[in-house]
Amino acid sequence: MILLTGATGYIGSHTWLELLLAGHQVVGIDNFVNSSPVVLKRLEALSGKKLNFIQGDVCDPIVLEALFKKHAIKGVIHFAALKAVGESSAKPILYYENNIGGLINLLQIMQENDCRNFVFSSSACVYGDPEKSPVKEDSDLKPENPYGQTKLMGEQILRDLEASDPRWRVAYLRYFNPIGAHESGLIGEDPMGVPNNLAPLVSRVAAGRMDELNIYGDDWDTPDGTGVRDYIHVVDLANGHVKAIEYIFSGKPSLTVNLGTGVGYSVMDVVRAYEDVVGQPIRCKVIDRRPGDVALYFADPSRAEALLGWKAVRSLKQMCADGWRWQSQNPLGYKS
Ligand code: NAD
Ligand code: UFG
Repeated sequence: MILLTGATGYIGSHTWLELLLAGHQVVGIDNFVNSSPVVLKRLEALSGKKLNFIQGDVCDPIVLEALFKKHAIKGVIHFAALKAVGESSAKPILYYENNIGGLINLLQIMQENDCRNFVFSSSACVYGDPEKSPVKEDSDLKPENPYGQTKLMGEQILRDLEASDPRWRVAYLRYFNPIGAHESGLIGEDPMGVPNNLAPLVSRVAAGRMDELNIYGDDWDTPDGTGVRDYIHVVDLANGHVKAIEYIFSGKPSLTVNLGTGVGYSVMDVVRAYEDVVGQPIRCKVIDRRPGDVALYFADPSRAEALLGWKAVRSLKQMCADGWRWQSQNPLGYKS
């Protein structure tokens, strides 16, 4: 049995489905701080299976102890975290308490229950503003906000744990920019409140929920002047987790890998790809740069391919088409 924390969130829900389709048994936990219980019904419809789920907080030892008593958990994929970069600067204690407190609680209970297989949701933000792209895993680590610090500290805690007991097996997965949705249009990204990230904002403008997209600067040192990122389809990312937990279960050594496509696209590339899919122009306005943004970065994903046999295969057009299908079938997200 695999435990997924943050199981009803954006990446967790897509990973849950891919794990079930690959034949794994899964139990999920989430406190719905940033997700909806409707996800569970959608996942049951897509997988044709009854789900194992408990509503609870990973910071609560009693909940986790009960969960480990009830299920023979062989490995954990740990998604549960708060992830809004701006909010993490305004409320750092909340971020350290939830992201680090939850991780430590989980690791303690895993250790007590002889479970030492772990997949950690890290992030490209551990690289901060990388000196060069493609970014390799041995690049300098210098996160620029409390959220990024929680990811780097999480990695450090796990590396110390591995050094203390070689039975631990950890996959450190550094995600680049996940976008898109499952091709069914039944599950997708449904951020609470106003989104901060590019893709959900573009789709809201396309759907008429917002008037226009603010482009944060067109004077960056990039080919068209707008910021460049490595966007990865969330289903490709989910499949990376299936490969990672299977790799860990096979007893191979711990690994740290970038999960990205290796291709950088600008804000304008994303807007144009969306316009092609939607068939109408997306209104944009260039405004000042967003504090803390960087010009350009994209992954070198070759280590993930070499070690996991994993490669992102879905194009930017497919990311936008699937994102748009999710948006148009669920105009108000899971509340629709
Ligand atoms: P998400 O907010 O959609 O999912 C996280 C889930 O965790 C939510 O369902 C939330 O309700 C739950 N959660 C949070 N704190 C919890 C707690 N204490 N107990 C139980 N559940 C809790 O985010 P996501 O995009 O699916 O991200 C998943 C993971 O990947 C996070 O760790 C995030 O930091 C990391 N990550 C995300 C991105 C991205 O751009 N989406 C990039 C890099 C890394
Ligand atoms: N952008 C705009 N307008 C917007 C929103 C974004 O022009 O309204 C631009 C940004 O300036 C940037 C690009 O679109 O150039 C992507 O911005 P996002 O906010 O979508 O993503 P970031 O790369 O800033 O950060 C995301 C997550 C982080 C994570 C990081 C790497 O928010 O948590 O990817 O995984 F750490």
